[in-house]
Amino acid sequence: MPPSQPPFPFADQGLLTRYGHLLDLPAHTLRISLQEGDTPLIPTPALADELGGEFELYVKFEGLNPTGSFKDRGMTAAISEAAGRGARAVICASTGNTAASAAAYAARAGLRCIVLIPEGKVAAGKLAGAAAYGAEVIQIRGSFDQALALVLAISERHPTVLVNSINPHRLEGQKTAAFEICERLGRAPDWLCLPVGNAGNICAYWLGFQLFNGRQGTGLPGLLGVQAAGAAPLVLGHPVDAPETIATAIRIGRPARGEQALAAAEASGGRITAVPDEAILYAQKRLARQGIWVEPASAAGLAGLEQMVREKRLDPRGKQIVVVCTGHGLKDPEIVTRELQPVVLPAELGPLEARLAG
Ligand code: F0G
Repeated sequence: MPPSQPPFPFADQGLLTRYGHLLDLPAHTLRISLQEGDTPLIPTPALADELGGEFELYVKFEGLNPTGSFKDRGMTAAISEAAGRGARAVICASTGNTAASAAAYAARAGLRCIVLIPEGKVAAGKLAGAAAYGAEVIQIRGSFDQALALVLAISERHPTVLVNSINPHRLEGQKTAAFEICERLGRAPDWLCLPVGNAGNICAYWLGFQLFNGRQGTGLPGLLGVQAAGAAPLVLGHPVDAPETIATAIRIGRPARGEQALAAAEASGGRITAVPDEAILYAQKRLARQGIWVEPASAAGLAGLEQMVREKRLDPRGKQIVVVCTGHGLKDPEIVTRELQPVVLPAELGPLEARLAG
């Protein structure tokens, strides 16, 4: 059962409170919240300079949501709706972040949460999160795409609510990131660059920008969706049966909202592009050098922007550009630590001074 509404003064400060009037959610929807959203839009002039300068570049750091990824925006909506109609259980397939987010919000709502993940392909911080929040974690010997097909079948055969982004309420919640960006900048940016996996988020942003533009005339951005080259069905124009990338969050070969994402990118005057893993890791390092540590997939937006600018397919001069960093670096620490060669010294001043003197 969902918890009763407590009389705490700050209990109800989440996205559904702030933006519920703009979202298309059923009347029975509760407010299951962890005070998600309201993430920073960080100016990164040094990164803009590295890309040639003469434009404004911002990072929307979605890794600062309660479970460390943007998924919390959609999950507050999906779980609140499910709990409001009396659901007892939710299920999802996940490359990790959806799993952790679903688990946390389900815990808060008192719902059973079942997550299916591809064996061996989920970063440690995500798996640990899902387990810590109390989800039933099932690894399958297969891909995310196969896991998604399975949970879809289960939700059709059993009274279990699917909370992947096929669930329309997820997209409603995720629209709120577009609202926040428009509010902060006073208008929509010229370009929005973000990673694309199962393709829900890019569709949600597009819906959000369109809605805000309709109400407040804030304009519309060009959307630059970025896939990893080894998992780029929307760039290749066909499904990828064995997707492979270091950015495991977007290791997806059959995006559920692929067609919708392509249509959104085209309508925006933008595109979906692909970048190699090396470019993703390089972008991750560049962001970290600005104090913004994101997981690899989250750096794909910057990598895609860099590639488009370098190939002169996007002229950034005079523009406002937002790069969406979808998940926190702490989700996937091994990417960094496996390259680490930690120095070990005796606990004495002499060797330390010698080392520091170079
Ligand atoms: N960035 C991160 C960190 C993600 O975890 C995901 C998706 C995406 C980007 C892509 O978003 O699917 O809406 O296009 N992760 C899903 C998951 C698939 O299961 O956590 P999308």
